[in-house]
Amino acid sequence: MSKRYLFAPGPTPVPEEILLAMARPLIHHRTPEFEQLMAEVREGLCYVFQTSGEVLVFCASGSGAMEAAVTNILCAGDSALVVQGGKFGERWAEICRAYGVRVHLLEVPWGEPVEPELVARALEAEPGIRAVLVQASETSTGVMHPVRALGEIVRRYPDTLLVVDAISALGAVELPVDRWGLDVVVAGSQKGLMLPPGLGFASVSEKAWRAVGRATLPHYYFDFAEEAKALRQNTARFTPAISLVVGLRDALERLRAEGLDQIFARHARLAEATRQAVRALGLELYARRSPSNALTAVAMPEGVDGSKVEQVLSGKYGITVAGGQDRARGRIIRIAHLGYADRFDVITAIAALEMTLNDLGCRVELGRGVRTAMELLQ
Ligand SMILES: Cc1ncc(COP(=O)(O)O)c(C=O)c1O
Repeated sequence: MSKRYLFAPGPTPVPEEILLAMARPLIHHRTPEFEQLMAEVREGLCYVFQTSGEVLVFCASGSGAMEAAVTNILCAGDSALVVQGGKFGERWAEICRAYGVRVHLLEVPWGEPVEPELVARALEAEPGIRAVLVQASETSTGVMHPVRALGEIVRRYPDTLLVVDAISALGAVELPVDRWGLDVVVAGSQKGLMLPPGLGFASVSEKAWRAVGRATLPHYYFDFAEEAKALRQNTARFTPAISLVVGLRDALERLRAEGLDQIFARHARLAEATRQAVRALGLELYARRSPSNALTAVAMPEGVDGSKVEQVLSGKYGITVAGGQDRARGRIIRIAHLGYADRFDVITAIAALEMTLNDLGCRVELGRGVRTAMELLQ
């Protein structure tokens, strides 16, 4: 018997009740029943995004919502400032370039958050920049960028939008869309929302809607204005991922029942316990500052190959974590405490990490990290 544990920063585990809800016989989407479902989902999404505006729902993984954000607010030849401190920052740049948007890169060392002052200076130097694109939680490095401070800077520019990839941040860390002045915030279903992959989301501020009216980049399937029109009728333009929308209603209900403040506090607690446990083992975090509460990127000690750690964790102990990407390949492992996660997930992950390191000849005291986590989580 080998029991599996999913501790990757997406997809994340789905609660059994939600799996069962999605297994119910399919309903048709052009029915009053589906409209009622959509009405509840719209309300629940506004709660989680903390916005009074519409949150658009797309059949896509998170990257589809990222692409939709770019093509619905910009024109060919527009300039965008991309904060690039990891793999997903690179994705913003790739999407922009694919559509002929001029990219001004603000490169940030991996493992560091962006300095808001640098964004302020870049905007002063290039007043034509139409969008600042950033991650709230850069999942490849386990770092949080200071989105709130960026909101204060970008709001001073009437023709510049702040576009935030919150794919691994939504439902894990505080991100009040309206209060912080975040113009477009994108998310995906398979992280803090505790669902399988397949839905992408985008919130759109009033300022962003004005840009949508001017945008000329080509798009058809991912059309903000048309999708919003359908949503206001509690429906979708095209055949939606009906089962996922059914699951989403239940997930949103769960989130509301726990309450956003409690959810953020839980993620903060689990993250802190993971960080302290890792340090108790003599390991270091990859994030030198501003570590994410959604996941912990653990730097591997000298002579230990992170890919090997990942393999042993999975093959011998049934634990799925994520390895490093690109320049972090083999150098880190990433342990998520995101979405449907509790204290025993952290304890299990740390226990397995201790056993794996010992298996690979890297001596750590068994139970030292686990004990630290237990003490913090009791
Ligand atoms: C911060 C961030 N951005 C973008 C993505 C890409 O999302 P998807 O794989 O759902 O397209 C991910 C997925 O891991 C992510 O964590």
